[in-house]
Amino acid sequence: MSEVRDSDPSLELVCRKCSSKFGIELLSHRTTCPVCGGLLDVVGKRVWSPKGRGLIRYAGMLPLGRNLSRILATVGDTPAEEAEIRGKRIIFKHEHLNPSGSFKDRGTAIAISLALEHRNVAEFAEDSSGNTAIAVSMIARKIRVRASIFVPRDAPSGKLRLLRLLRSKIVTCESRAKATEKVAEYVAGRSDVYYVDHLRNPAYIEGARSIAYEVFEQFGEVGSVVVPIGSGGLMLGVISGWLDLLNLGLVRKIPKVLGVQGVEVAPIYRALYGDRGVVIEGRSRLADGIRVPNPPRAEQLVELLRRVRGDVVLVNDVDIAKALRELIDMGIVVEPTSATVLAALDKARSQGVDLPEPILLVLTGSGMKLIDEVAEIIGA
Ligand SMILES: Cc1ncc(COP(=O)(O)O)c(C=O)c1O
Ligand SMILES: [Zn+2]
Repeated sequence: MSEVRDSDPSLELVCRKCSSKFGIELLSHRTTCPVCGGLLDVVGKRVWSPKGRGLIRYAGMLPLGRNLSRILATVGDTPAEEAEIRGKRIIFKHEHLNPSGSFKDRGTAIAISLALEHRNVAEFAEDSSGNTAIAVSMIARKIRVRASIFVPRDAPSGKLRLLRLLRSKIVTCESRAKATEKVAEYVAGRSDVYYVDHLRNPAYIEGARSIAYEVFEQFGEVGSVVVPIGSGGLMLGVISGWLDLLNLGLVRKIPKVLGVQGVEVAPIYRALYGDRGVVIEGRSRLADGIRVPNPPRAEQLVELLRRVRGDVVLVNDVDIAKALRELIDMGIVVEPTSATVLAALDKARSQGVDLPEPILLVLTGSGMKLIDEVAEIIGA
């Protein structure tokens, strides 16, 4: 059933490469520019008129399909909690409390709502090592659509178990890159299969915008925001969300943004700092959610980080394990990738990166999906 909303934004898609413009409905069929294959951004007039629950609350700000209101209303609306850590005022944004246990529910619900807007979908396909795949699989179950998930061989076993429980078809691939290759082959020429394509799909940036909107409603202005960077969709969305609030005159300035990457896979850090970066030894296997070696939107993110004078710090497995232990000791069970934001707090201090207070730490994913792995890491 379609619903009419009175405050819909007038948004469209623009290609970052050839500047062609398209209606949002293009996202029902593809996630890149049909003219040149370039990446697409959502642009246009956004209307601040928060009303209702979950993502529906921001129907004036976001491109939401009309056929999934029930699910859109249950995504987001996550609690934010104040704490004091090492004498600093901290706000935790509990994104791990989304329905499938991560912030990826936001982008996924928007992507799927738009996919269903102008076509029939018999199956979703996605390449992901974890949280996006779980978000897709869970919504797919709710609306009784099949899901095929292409995963790298080293995907965490707890997440794979959950995918199996949700009856998704799992195709194991040699590596993350191979999974992307295989899913493209799989969907080619199949008109009833929708490729979610979260690394390029602008719906994920739109979803992350809503985190900024919620924090603004919960706390007003914050001094700094710390998020992990994998594909960069989260960081792009969080910055864009605050820029929206700035453009609408709701905040006076945007917070200082700090991204976190693992030492072993740090394309954004390298692009920003090149050889001038600090050298941190060790591995970063524990941060499986942010091991994205070639994010398609890397250039866009680096450009935006420079524009807003954002920073990035690196963490290794020792830092992550310590932060994970500390969070669990506070009664907050997140996954290792999410513990990077607490580790980043110490890195920022030791590297002289100023983080004005209050400091928002976005806790992106739940540790309950991989409780065995978490217990092993912290030696419990
Ligand atoms: C728990 C968790 N945190 C952070 C990220 C990074 O988000 P993004 O890929 O949007 O940069 C991911 C990505 O999968 C994730 O699963
Ligand atoms: Zn184009």
